[in-house]
Amino acid sequence: MKQFLKDVLHDLGETPKRLNSKYFYDHTGDRIFQQIMNCEEYYPTNCELEIFQHKTAELAKVLKNGFDTFDLIEMGAGDATKSSYLLMEMLRQNFDFTYMPIDISADMIGHLEKKLPKEIDGLKVKGLNGEYFDMLTHARKISPKRKVILFLGGTIGNFETDAALEFCRELRSYLQKGDVLMIGFDLKKHPDVIRKAYNDAQGLTKAFNLNLLSRINRELGGNFVLEQFDHYPSYDPATGACRSYLISLTEQEVCIEGRVFTFKKDEYISMEISQKYSVEETELMAFKSGFKPVNHFFDSRHWFLDTVWQCE
Ligand code: AVI
Repeated sequence: MKQFLKDVLHDLGETPKRLNSKYFYDHTGDRIFQQIMNCEEYYPTNCELEIFQHKTAELAKVLKNGFDTFDLIEMGAGDATKSSYLLMEMLRQNFDFTYMPIDISADMIGHLEKKLPKEIDGLKVKGLNGEYFDMLTHARKISPKRKVILFLGGTIGNFETDAALEFCRELRSYLQKGDVLMIGFDLKKHPDVIRKAYNDAQGLTKAFNLNLLSRINRELGGNFVLEQFDHYPSYDPATGACRSYLISLTEQEVCIEGRVFTFKKDEYISMEISQKYSVEETELMAFKSGFKPVNHFFDSRHWFLDTVWQCE
């Protein structure tokens, strides 16, 4: 049985029901996420872009960390818009490095390997198509150089906090003394700003969530009726947890591969967490997972943090 089906059957069988937001990103989900990143209310992308556009020289210097040569590995590179600024700056300063984007999408890796060397003269690109940790192992096999890792976009926020710590610990176990990680955290801020970002006026975030139900219908033969679910985002300033739910508008049954799931009216499916952190919480996470936080890069409003952690 394929993993997607296994996970969906398991997670909808739980009480309360849930789905894993890593499955948001099929072809349609990727397209909706691009639209979210361009929409007025979704601030994290612009904040991080500001950091990459305005603090490029300093970022490059800190990440080089005194190495003569290194591999710059980006986990979940997407279309590499933000990192392009860094790549150009590193080349301008004549750094000797290879850019290794990791992405689960073979299409995206193929696209980056073709596009980037054309757009950025002199750039060496080696795309790695697969899961993060498998690809980190592979990167070590094909190159003995020091590793500089980028994990941007606040994606760490899509893990529950204990799972985020576990993820960082595991990541640390693939790295060696002297390697460097730059990781992006969306920071705690006024709750209204956060709620709007996950409840945009165009309904893009709603469509993003509902698309996972469509994907289950398309790929797993499910029969969700999308109109019978509503999107409900919440943000709790006490914990920093921003959560998205889909609410069943009626009592209903949904069938997936012969399994029947019953929904009460107003029952929810927990869809996604986008955890927000304080700077202190990010530092604690660094120490607890075996890193030392050495630099903080903020946007002008201090809404987002790209922090640099060293392996000691
Ligand atoms: C990819 N990730 C960091 C986004 C976030 O903010 O949690 C995904 C997203 N979900 C709704 N809008 C954007």
